Amino acid sequence: MPSAFAPGKCILFGEHAVVFGHPAVAVAIDQGVRVSVEESEMWKLEGASFDPSRHPHISHIIQNIFQYSGPPLDIDVNSSLFSAAGMGSSAALSNAFGAAMYSYLNPDEEIDAVKLAKIAHSAEATAQKGRASPTDTATSALGGCVVVSGSEVPGTRHVFDTSLETPEGSREWSINTVDIPQGVGDAWLVIGYSGTGSPTGRMVAKVAKLISEVPERMEEMEAIANITRAGLAALSAGNLDALGMAMDACHESLRKLEVSTIKLDQMVNAARPHSLGAKITGAGGGGCMVALTHDPNRVSEAIEVAGGRPLMTRLGAQGVRLQHL
Ligand code: MEV
Repeated sequence: MPSAFAPGKCILFGEHAVVFGHPAVAVAIDQGVRVSVEESEMWKLEGASFDPSRHPHISHIIQNIFQYSGPPLDIDVNSSLFSAAGMGSSAALSNAFGAAMYSYLNPDEEIDAVKLAKIAHSAEATAQKGRASPTDTATSALGGCVVVSGSEVPGTRHVFDTSLETPEGSREWSINTVDIPQGVGDAWLVIGYSGTGSPTGRMVAKVAKLISEVPERMEEMEAIANITRAGLAALSAGNLDALGMAMDACHESLRKLEVSTIKLDQMVNAARPHSLGAKITGAGGGGCMVALTHDPNRVSEAIEVAGGRPLMTRLGAQGVRLQHL
C-alpha cells in the first residue's frame, strides 16, 4: 500500500512578510502527517465517505494535478500535528498525499521533492483563495531549514524558483536551504498550541487589509525582513543567543501587525524565562507560539500552566518520504 510521511514546519522568522516577497526562515519538525492510499469500492477518507468539497487540498491533487479517473481510493490520514494551527498541517497533508498518489500511479519511481513542493503549493494556493507563500509546502517537502524569499539570499543554497498569481498581484519566490550547525541542532523548539485554530487565509487577508488601510504598517514588513536576515545570520553562525533575540524581536513586529492574541502573548511570556527566545509561529490569530530552549521540559510546563498544549521537536527534520507498510 503506497504510504508517505511529510513533516510539519515551524516558521522561525518572516511569516506574513513572506507573502509580500520578503524572506522567511522555517524548519521541518519531527511531527507530521502520514497518508496511505489503497483501492476500494467507494471513495473513503479516514474510514468515512469522502466529500471532495470539504477537502480542497486532496481534491485539487486528485483532479487537477493527477487528473485521476481510476478506481475509488480509500485514503488514510494519520497526523501528529495540531491542525489549522500554524504547523503546516495542510502543507504536510498535501505533500504526503501527493507522494502517496505519485507512488500509487508510478510504483517503481522515486519521488521528487521539488515536484511535490510545487504540487503542494498549488493545492495550498487553491485552498487559500490564491494567497499562499511556498514556505510551508517547500519546508515540508525538502526538510531541514528552508529560506524562502522574493530574491536570492546570500549564504544559502538555491533549490528552485516558483511563482503565483495572487489577488495582490504576481509573486515570485526563490527557495533555498541552509545547513543547521551542530549547536543549533542540539537546541529544542517547544511549540505551544493555544487551543484555537489559526485561519491562515483569513489572517493573510486581514494583514493585506491593514496594509491597504494603513500603508505605514508596510514598515513593519521591512522590520520583519531585517529581523529575518539577522536571525538567519545568527542561525548559520550557530549563535543561539542572537537567534533567540531575533525571535523575540519578530514577535513584537507580528504583534504590531495585529496577528497575536492575548493567549499567544501569555504563552510567549510564560516561556521566555526558560528560553533563548519565543514568538508566534505561523499566521497567528490563534494557532501556535514557539520557544527556542535548552530546557524543553521546563518550557513545556510553563506553556501548560499558561493554558497551552506543548509539543517538543528538534530543528530540521527530514523532508517528505515514502514509507513501506
Ligand atoms: C503561514 O504558515 C505563514 C503565512 O506567512 C502565510 C504564508 O506564508 O502563506 C502567514
